[in-house]
Amino acid sequence: MAGKKHTAIILAAGKGARMNSDVPKQFLELGGKPVICYALQAFEESFVDEIILVTEAGMEDYCRSEIVEKYGFLKVSQITAGGEERYDSVYRGLCAISDCDYVYIHDGARPFVDKDILLRAKQCVEETDACAAGMPVKDTIKVVDDLNFVAETPERRHVWQMQTPQAFAYAVVREAYDKLFDSYDLTGITDDAMVVERSLSHPVKLFEGSYRNMKITTPEDLALAERMLDL
Ligand code: CTP
Ligand code: MG
Repeated sequence: MAGKKHTAIILAAGKGARMNSDVPKQFLELGGKPVICYALQAFEESFVDEIILVTEAGMEDYCRSEIVEKYGFLKVSQITAGGEERYDSVYRGLCAISDCDYVYIHDGARPFVDKDILLRAKQCVEETDACAAGMPVKDTIKVVDDLNFVAETPERRHVWQMQTPQAFAYAVVREAYDKLFDSYDLTGITDDAMVVERSLSHPVKLFEGSYRNMKITTPEDLALAERMLDL
């Protein structure tokens, strides 16, 4: 697969409502530097050719001077304004790419993505054109009805919790997102795999992320991430 171009979209346009902080969580400090720097560093050191950083409109200059230039991320080729929902931000990132073969979509709020996860993503996307990081759940999962009565207990080995990166052949994910926005059926979209499943019925393969590859969502997650830096 020599000569193929690999581009990452790193998402940092969320407002972080569940974090309850004035500063969006991706810019809060973790181990002395902003949370977003960890994901950027992992991609910077990887096989990825180019990084599109998606941030809230109005935060582009801050990201350029305080993140990209300050920490010397040379692969960040564009800083693009995101949108209201995660899928809007992803779509803006996809539209900002002029040409690439594979795209890796990653939550900037997941600092523990690493070299091995990225290599598994590369291998899997080159084989399948559509794949996503996840891990088998550790707890038993119940599906409940509107009154919280158990409707179903899926077999645990068949239930995975989803993570990022989620990686796709560019043409596949672009077509899926174009169709999504044409249809206006945007309800309940929380990851990119769903868009490809729903819009194209294209199979999506899961590969192992890691149990470390958590998303910082609430204040206790940030405290946990701080502790995990030493593990
Ligand atoms: N994200 C984004 N644009 C949005 C919403 C989310 O780029 N409109 C990004 C976030 O910055 C984060 C990732 O998508 O890196 C995962 O989203 P989530 O954890 O839900 O972050 P927030 O939406 O910021 O948090 P909350 O849902 O608590 O408001
Ligand atoms: Mg959100």
